[in-house]
Amino acid sequence: MFDSITIKPATLIISNESTDRGLLAEKLEEQGFYVLIAENGQVGIEIWAEKMNAIRIVITDLAMVPVDGLEVIKTIRDQQELSTYIVALTAEGVGMQQQNLLHDGPDAWMQKPVQVDQLEALLHSAKLQLRLNDCSDLLAGLAELAAERGGETVGHLQRTKRYCFVIADDLCGQCPALGLTERQVQDIAEISVLHDIGKIGLPDGLLTKRGRYSPKEYEIIKDHTIIGGNLLKKLYQRSGSVYILMGHEMAMTHHEKWAGGGYPLGLQGEEIPLAGRIMAFADVYDALLSRRPYKDPLSLYHAEHAIKEGKGSHFDPLVVESYERNRQRFVEIYNDFKDK
Ligand SMILES: [Fe+2]
Ligand SMILES: [Fe+2]
Repeated sequence: MFDSITIKPATLIISNESTDRGLLAEKLEEQGFYVLIAENGQVGIEIWAEKMNAIRIVITDLAMVPVDGLEVIKTIRDQQELSTYIVALTAEGVGMQQQNLLHDGPDAWMQKPVQVDQLEALLHSAKLQLRLNDCSDLLAGLAELAAERGGETVGHLQRTKRYCFVIADDLCGQCPALGLTERQVQDIAEISVLHDIGKIGLPDGLLTKRGRYSPKEYEIIKDHTIIGGNLLKKLYQRSGSVYILMGHEMAMTHHEKWAGGGYPLGLQGEEIPLAGRIMAFADVYDALLSRRPYKDPLSLYHAEHAIKEGKGSHFDPLVVESYERNRQRFVEIYNDFKDK
């Protein structure tokens, strides 16, 4: 049961061509991988479906019969539970193939015939990427722990993550002056689950207490922003990861208010990082519609009234406008990820 030292990461090679399969298998085994081989896309999908939780890297040819590499990649992306690093092998120009697979495509491309040094470089990035993914899964697990400990639900994290995505994605298209990139849109959504990570550091029982908080208790609760913000800042200083820096900003500033008067820093307007402004809205919108130990849920009608009141005072008007353009999607997310 406990065998982390002896488990080898599994790689699946899918290709119609036996020379490619042989060369790739030899190199991967040399590098310490456990290698699985499929001679076509159909068999590749079957092997992957059976062992998907062990296979972390898939190297697939694109031009195959009867099932081609695009179909293989699509199937994996649709069904994967763990992050899977996919390398697409192609004899055509890589640039042209990339056009066909912008979204949910492979993580990397390899031109045929396979060059050993290119393969080694790719495996190096694959290992780094998988390690990063494992770290973010670990952080998401810790975030769930913090949420449960703080009387929040996992549903709250799932919903706010999606609300953040909808707003960031909309702002990326509608407000180019903000300078948001597609990568940052994705990052804002992913790292949003850490906004309340600081609740781990609050005294036992405080957040699950029934009834209203005393002013002293409320002051202690406010510290979750600083505890979480500082934790992520330290992680950022060690890793240099801009993604973690974004997490720091969200944890630190999600209770700031656009016109000032929020906590912990009392920032105003654009002094509050955009990621924090988006999180502030997503968090409050969800809180208004949710049951908490100290309050009943509001109807959508009343929640929207509160949001209107908060436009330009609590919330960044641009973020509220983004919500107004996407009301229906918010309703769908709320219904799809309702608390049990
Ligand atoms: Fe919070
Ligand atoms: Fe929250």
